Amino acid sequence: MKISSASWIALSERSSAAAPVFRRRFACQKAVKAATLEVTCDGVYEAVLNGERVGRFILAPGWTEYRKRLQVQSYDVKNLLKEDNNLEITVGSGWYRRTNAPWTGTRNPDEFLPAMLIAALHIVYADGAEETILTDESWEAAESEVTQSGIFYGEDVDMTRIPVFRPAVICDYPKDALIPQEGPEVREQETVFPRSSFRTPRGEWVIDFGQNLTGYMAFEITAHAGERLCLSTAEVLDRNGNFYNANYRSARSQLKYVCREGQQFYKPRFTFFGFRFLRVDEFPQGFSAKNIRAIVLHSEMTRTGWLHSSDHMLNRLFSNILWSQKGNYLDIPTDCPQRDERYGWTGDGQIFCRTATYQYDVRSFFRKWLNDMRAAQHDNGWVPEVIPSLTAYKPGGGAWSDAVTIIPWQLFETYGDLSFLSDMYPAMEKWIAYIPTVSTEKDLWTGCWTYGDWLALDAPEDYRPATIELSKRGYSSDGLVCSAFYANSVDIVIRAGELLGKDVSGYREMYKRIVRAYKARFSDRLNTQTEKVLTLHFGLTDTPQALADALADQIVSCGTKLQTGLVGTPYLLHELSRYGHAEIAWSLLLRREYPGWLYSVSKGATTVWEHWDGIKPDGSFWDDDMNSYNHYAYGSVADWVFGAACGIRPLKPGFAQALIAPQPDRRVASLSAVLDTVHGRIRSAWSRTDDGFRYEIETPTDAKIVIDGRTYAVGKGKYLF
Ligand code: BGC
Repeated sequence: MKISSASWIALSERSSAAAPVFRRRFACQKAVKAATLEVTCDGVYEAVLNGERVGRFILAPGWTEYRKRLQVQSYDVKNLLKEDNNLEITVGSGWYRRTNAPWTGTRNPDEFLPAMLIAALHIVYADGAEETILTDESWEAAESEVTQSGIFYGEDVDMTRIPVFRPAVICDYPKDALIPQEGPEVREQETVFPRSSFRTPRGEWVIDFGQNLTGYMAFEITAHAGERLCLSTAEVLDRNGNFYNANYRSARSQLKYVCREGQQFYKPRFTFFGFRFLRVDEFPQGFSAKNIRAIVLHSEMTRTGWLHSSDHMLNRLFSNILWSQKGNYLDIPTDCPQRDERYGWTGDGQIFCRTATYQYDVRSFFRKWLNDMRAAQHDNGWVPEVIPSLTAYKPGGGAWSDAVTIIPWQLFETYGDLSFLSDMYPAMEKWIAYIPTVSTEKDLWTGCWTYGDWLALDAPEDYRPATIELSKRGYSSDGLVCSAFYANSVDIVIRAGELLGKDVSGYREMYKRIVRAYKARFSDRLNTQTEKVLTLHFGLTDTPQALADALADQIVSCGTKLQTGLVGTPYLLHELSRYGHAEIAWSLLLRREYPGWLYSVSKGATTVWEHWDGIKPDGSFWDDDMNSYNHYAYGSVADWVFGAACGIRPLKPGFAQALIAPQPDRRVASLSAVLDTVHGRIRSAWSRTDDGFRYEIETPTDAKIVIDGRTYAVGKGKYLF
């Protein structure tokens, strides 16, 4: 990369709130054959050449494990060049210098860095001559009109400000972390127009986009210099219909814009928001909702999966799950896009991964993130709980850091690409070697920090744990949860190792010991739903049918309600339907009361909620703290709809051969799933008839179709039953 010869430059050696703009003017007096701009920064940037935005990547260079990996983008800029050129690049704080929220209890040391830029423009002329313009002291810099910006902060812009340029200063900052761009670009994906605009009972002016989304607002106005437009974001209104965003916690999430004279168009350039509602706090004369729209941002991904049913509430749920993936796949897989987190929580990432691979082609999205996971893994094998990692934060526990085995395996299963396993194999081995070094019991994983079955509903009323964090974790045994995931991670290492031709005999012995220890320790203590579900799902019982029957009885006896949290929920319906209790699985899916998937739909949700009762039946909130309305974890139920309700599963990796074994339910008139696999389209649809069901199945490869207990081995084609 030419950029390695360039210097890091800044406006001054000290950090400042304003986003600096860097400028270089140059002439091209000959015909140009090719021109490439390489650029990156310690924040997020926007490059403009002769007044035109360079490329479509929003919030470049994205978020990576910056100290080790900082992506460099290369843009073909030949068509933007003229005889006299002006290249301007503005650098906002982004993730690099503004990520540690106060609740993490740690400061990000990079926040004290100045905003720095490094770039190289390589021009090849028609006559063969070449020229490279590198960032150096020939560049100028000024404070731009963006007076402050940050991912959680939002953006402050003063268009009356006139940048005063002076020579840029050279910074002595390492360049060894620079790597070429790996992941897909974050881009503007769609436009959403206001659905309504109204006054709340409190008198606030609110604009409703009708959809909770991730992105920003764009507006076009005519105003006088100095007039202000201030917009605050929210996901929901409170029970009185007033604007509410206390659930954003310390994330300010506002746009404050000071107008220049005349007609103007603006959209934030260095931040994003998770919102459905905008409160118009200040506005120029004549401003109306017609002046504004919302622009949806997410990483470039091709849609591969579609679910549709006869039930409008189920369809809304499917749509909410899709929107939660769009809203949280913005360069990295985040827990939520609005409050002061938006972190790459490993647990949430692995929980939703299967559903994600069905809805979109996420191969290159995950390849980049897994590379960051490898880079963030400590020498002793410990995998941080959020990736990219935060400075001095906690190690991840069971089900969170196990993302290091689960995600590569899932990608292999959905896409059949062995490179996910070969790339990650050393990291997986290091991870399972780390667990015994911290566990308090041999062949189990106990006595360590973990989130347990986070947010489960099964703790008794009078349960009063020592910390607030503990109170959010339900009643499943931490040791059981961690040990079950430990067994699973070792099992994945064995299966991956076999495929890669490794000697896994040692791991086989290790696995046997873990299973033996697990059974001895936990078999007679499988109390909660999650304890049973994990034991079934990871094959850690000698009597699976009896355990599944006990799980089904337990669910029915508490009113056919789930009590599972983040960890147990993704497997709950799968284990019920696998062992002959599909009807109960369906009852859980179709339940409209709390706790259940359709409860939030009945409350008007347009994305998946973090809590089953984020908004309670009386309209009050679960809490101000930790209450996101765009958290995809429970949306992982979509992989049960694809894999069990419509019955599409891989028999061979990548669906080179598929099993299609639908499990319909008479409470739903029809359901269909379409999945574009790497081998072609699979479709499984059923509809209720007077005396049974009608099935339409399409497969691009050999498949086994199972209908009413009968198996049909078929080749590529369309089938009707
Ligand atoms: C996040 C979660 C995450 C969790 C760890 C939360 O604040 O939003 O989804 O997995 O912390 O338990």
